[in-house]
Amino acid sequence: MKDPKRYMVTSALPYANGPLHIGHIAGAMLPADIYVRYLRAAGEDVVWICGSDEHGAAITLRAKKEGVTPKEIVDRYHSLMSSTFENFGISFDVYDRTSSPEHHENAQEFFLNLLEKGSFEVKTEKQYFDVEANQFLADRYIIGTCPKCGHDHAYGDQCENCGSALSPNDLIDPRSVLSGSKPELRETSLWYLPMGDHEEWLKSYIEEGTLNGEQQHDVKAWKKHVIGQCKSWIDSGLQSRAMTRDLDWGVQVPVEGADGKVLYVWLDAPIGYITATKRWAEQNNTDWKPYWQEKDTQLIHFIGKDNIVFHCLIFPILLKEHGDYILPYNVPANEFMNLEGDKISTSRNWAVWLHEYLEDFPDKQDEMRYVLCSIMPEQKDSEFTWNDYKDRVNNELADILGNFVNRAVVLTHKYYDGIVPAPNEFTKVDLELIKVIEETPKKVAQLLKSYRFREAQLEAMNLARAGNKYMTEEEPWKLAKTDPERVKTIIHLCLQVTANLPIVLNPFLPFTSKKIAGALGTVHEDWNAASTTLLEVGTAIEKTPILFVKVDDATVEAQMAKLEASKAQAAEKEVEPVKESIDFDQFTGMDLRIGEITAAERIPKTKKLLKLSVKTGVDERTVVSGIAEHYSPEEVIGKKVTMLLNLAPRKIKGVESQGMVLMSEDAQGNLSFVSPEKGGKAGDTVR
Ligand code: MF3
Ligand code: ZN
Repeated sequence: MKDPKRYMVTSALPYANGPLHIGHIAGAMLPADIYVRYLRAAGEDVVWICGSDEHGAAITLRAKKEGVTPKEIVDRYHSLMSSTFENFGISFDVYDRTSSPEHHENAQEFFLNLLEKGSFEVKTEKQYFDVEANQFLADRYIIGTCPKCGHDHAYGDQCENCGSALSPNDLIDPRSVLSGSKPELRETSLWYLPMGDHEEWLKSYIEEGTLNGEQQHDVKAWKKHVIGQCKSWIDSGLQSRAMTRDLDWGVQVPVEGADGKVLYVWLDAPIGYITATKRWAEQNNTDWKPYWQEKDTQLIHFIGKDNIVFHCLIFPILLKEHGDYILPYNVPANEFMNLEGDKISTSRNWAVWLHEYLEDFPDKQDEMRYVLCSIMPEQKDSEFTWNDYKDRVNNELADILGNFVNRAVVLTHKYYDGIVPAPNEFTKVDLELIKVIEETPKKVAQLLKSYRFREAQLEAMNLARAGNKYMTEEEPWKLAKTDPERVKTIIHLCLQVTANLPIVLNPFLPFTSKKIAGALGTVHEDWNAASTTLLEVGTAIEKTPILFVKVDDATVEAQMAKLEASKAQAAEKEVEPVKESIDFDQFTGMDLRIGEITAAERIPKTKKLLKLSVKTGVDERTVVSGIAEHYSPEEVIGKKVTMLLNLAPRKIKGVESQGMVLMSEDAQGNLSFVSPEKGGKAGDTVR
């Protein structure tokens, strides 16, 4: 593919509903920051935008939980998030927000443009409505049982257990998140995007990288998991998706008579990328259009994997329907980062919060950036642990990079009063090191252009590794008395390595790079300056500050204790409220009995489901139970459990489940059977 003239880079707009944690930046911001810092240093024309996503149920539900207005929530978190990004060296060209009047106007204009083109279909249909809360329920406002996997907390738009896309009408036993009540159906009209109409061109766009018969991008440069997810959506048939909601928080639908209707947050938020670019252009007195509308621009979206369908299918449809826009050139989505063996969770407070990290580890942004890049979930989920953090900081940053730079600078001061010595003739080992200096920027650049950030960082660190090894093997301190001319060459080369490090490391470690380049009086933001003679002979260099301090065990333990404590606190807060009272008849209407499990097997292609045979005293029946992550089939056989016998049968994953095995569940979601304490036998009643 031809080199582009300019790059338009976006990072997924995070919801302004809570502080930022390591998962946010590891997914969509850090890789983009690394990429963009490189492009800028290489002299490319690049704009990188981001901002707060301030609409949607994520915001309003949080506001409700805290008993404040949505506006208070977004104001609070927008300012916390933008300062956290800045403190971490996340160098957006602009960090905007979607609640701004400019964005509302921009999103409405975009919507109207498509409306006039006939891109939407209006449908009047029955939607769930919560009478108590006086509100229509969509997306995260409604939960129920997933028809695909049986998970009982599936949302109206998606089941987080099996990843299926859902619509509220798919849910079994739907309940309102607002009041817990059973919603009724009421008529309303919505604007739908008929995604099915776009299947054909999307297929070639995703699978061949072609658009209107032209090669638009190189499919080989797309991540396999991204293409895989898109293909599976396309192959299962693209459903029409509602682009409006009956809510009062969001961008008003700009149509007469559409009061109380707003744009679907996933329509307005990506348009927020364009709004942010306009703001940037205004601030910089330039034109935004080429960045979104010229074919020689590469549009790159950095996101987490849960956003793939929106960026690879829905947003491209909107852009293409509009007609003036280019389509994404690549969407290098990351998978998820876990934390100490568990999923990162805001509600369970299982996270390393970035603003807290900076309080506990002031000025150690690069340490966290380094670790997160080392374990970036590029191809599969990864895991952050504090012990790993400690090992990487101590063994790599401190022992290799810090140690090398420190030795090079200290020896220059010791032998030459801080003046760069002239080299003598180069030996074979010298030439090898020179080669590493020459090749590293090329290799790192190549990897960065392929969005392979882990390897790129490793390759950049290899320059420090090579320098460190060279110095250790050449032992200039031993030769100082016997062969001072040789020592000059060694120190000279070590200093050239040192001077090149801030250039190749700047995308990853901007704070450290600035310190090193500052002491040497060299540059760190010009990729083309990398050279084996970057530091001129005779230059006076300053001493570098200590670059990295080792992490001790006590620090690791303190962070682990903090995690556990905050999780315990969150769990306490999460005790479920008491449900509405029922009368005695409703209670006795439930046929509860002891059952004995006689056989069990996993249901293929599911993570959570076991198919159980249960002896009930009256018969032997099949029950599908979502316990496979807590019990193996072998260990449940023979167990006596409590069963609800007269629950209406329902089909889960093609298997008819005849009743329900009762489980106790703690705040962490751990399940356990409810068994008769003194034995009991199949058929015993429970009341
Ligand atoms: N707020 C969304 C999330 O956190 C991401 C929005 S990305 C955009 O999942 F494209 F819509 F802006
Ligand atoms: Zn599911």
